[in-house]
Formats: sequence, structure tokens, C-alpha cells
Amino acid sequence: MKPLPAAAQVASLPPPPVVQLPPGDKATRWAALKQLATTHPVCLANVRPGKKAVLGVGALDAQIFFVGEAPGAEEEVAGEPFVGPAGQLLTKMIGGMGLKREQVYIGNILCWRPQMPTPDWMEQIGNRPPTPEEMAFCLPFLRASIEIVRPALIVALGGTAAQGLLGTKFTTLAAARSRWHEFDGTPLMVTYHPSYLLRSGTTKSKRAVWEDLLQVMERAGLPISDKQRGYFLEK
Ligand code: URA
Repeated sequence: MKPLPAAAQVASLPPPPVVQLPPGDKATRWAALKQLATTHPVCLANVRPGKKAVLGVGALDAQIFFVGEAPGAEEEVAGEPFVGPAGQLLTKMIGGMGLKREQVYIGNILCWRPQMPTPDWMEQIGNRPPTPEEMAFCLPFLRASIEIVRPALIVALGGTAAQGLLGTKFTTLAAARSRWHEFDGTPLMVTYHPSYLLRSGTTKSKRAVWEDLLQVMERAGLPISDKQRGYFLEK
């Protein structure tokens, strides 16, 4: 049998990188960070042939910084986070907040799509959650992104993002959401991942996410109409 590509075996990782950025404005530092993350030998060793490592996308002066889990099939092709079905829903959620996708920043805990044993000549089917070691390796890239953007608020999408940023493994997402946490001094809200809503999007779960986002909007000082306050309320 053909041996699996080395990266598909979830090789053990070296210690997390020390990220040092050049002096300069946000655009200069972010361009250097993107180059560093997407060409880092460990990141490249963890992407499959022809696929890309992914940093983040959005406004470098964004007030709100969304953090997801890891690139999926569409993202590792595009080199941009949240461009597949979950990304389309996230873009709608951002629209519901009265913002455009380009006005926020969107990143991930992981820079690569977590690999599953797949021969090089096949596309990977399915996804797996990142390991704690993978999350620890990529965290310096995310932390540096947050330091560049200096958002007012962070939104962690799903349990993996919450765990990766806060270092706490919550027994359920319900135990973490709907209240304020902190990452390096920046207020952080945890809510459900858009993929969860795609899988089991009841009116109740959509309202739960929306209530978390209303708290984010309030804290960010965004205008909220009565119509927005009423989204997903059962009549
Ligand atoms: N899910 C994530 O968490 N991140 C992406 O970039 C895409 C899907």
C-alpha cells in the first residue's frame, strides 16, 4: 500500500514560533505576518499539495475581530478564511449586524486545514478538529494579528476558537457563550460556530447566536434598530 504523506500523520510539531514583525504601519506589519505564516515551513508541511496556508482577512482597523476554527476545503484553495458555506453564513451574520464583511477582521485558530489520512492524489474528505498542539503552534500568528488590528472586541466562533484563545476546555458551548471573557485584555464573546447553525439551525439556536451578537453590537456602540432586536424571536 502507498504510504501516507508525512503531514497526514499529524506529525509532532516543534515549539510555537516566536513572531517578530518589522516596525512600520499596520499594513506593513500585517503583510510581513502574512508572508511569515503562509510560508512558514511547518505551515507548509501541514498543507496538502497545491493547497494554501491561510492567515486572515479584513480591515486592519476593524472594531470587531472574528475567530473561527481552521480553514476547510474551500479556504485552503482560496487562501482566505470563511469563504465556503459557513463563511457565507458568517458574512450574512455580519450583514445582520449592519456591517460589511470588509469592515471586520476574520481569522482562525489554525493556519492550515487539519489533515486526515488521504493519499496525495485524492481530495481530503471531511474535517477533524485541530489538536491542542496544532492550536498552540498557530496561536502566535493569531496573537500577532490581534496585536496589529487592536480590535475593540473579539468574537470566538465555536468551542475550538474559545478553547484556543482562552485555554479553557468548556464542557458545552452553552457554558461559555453569552458572557464576556478576555483575551490579552480585549473583551471576548463566545458564540456558536456558523457550521453548527448550518447543521442544526433551529430558530432557538439562531436566536442564541443573535443575542450574543446583539451584546457585541451594544458593546461596540453600533446602532441597533427594533427590527434587529427582534430577529429570530418566535412570534
Ligand atoms: N470554518 C472555520 O472555522 N474557519 C474557516 O475559515 C472556514 C470554516
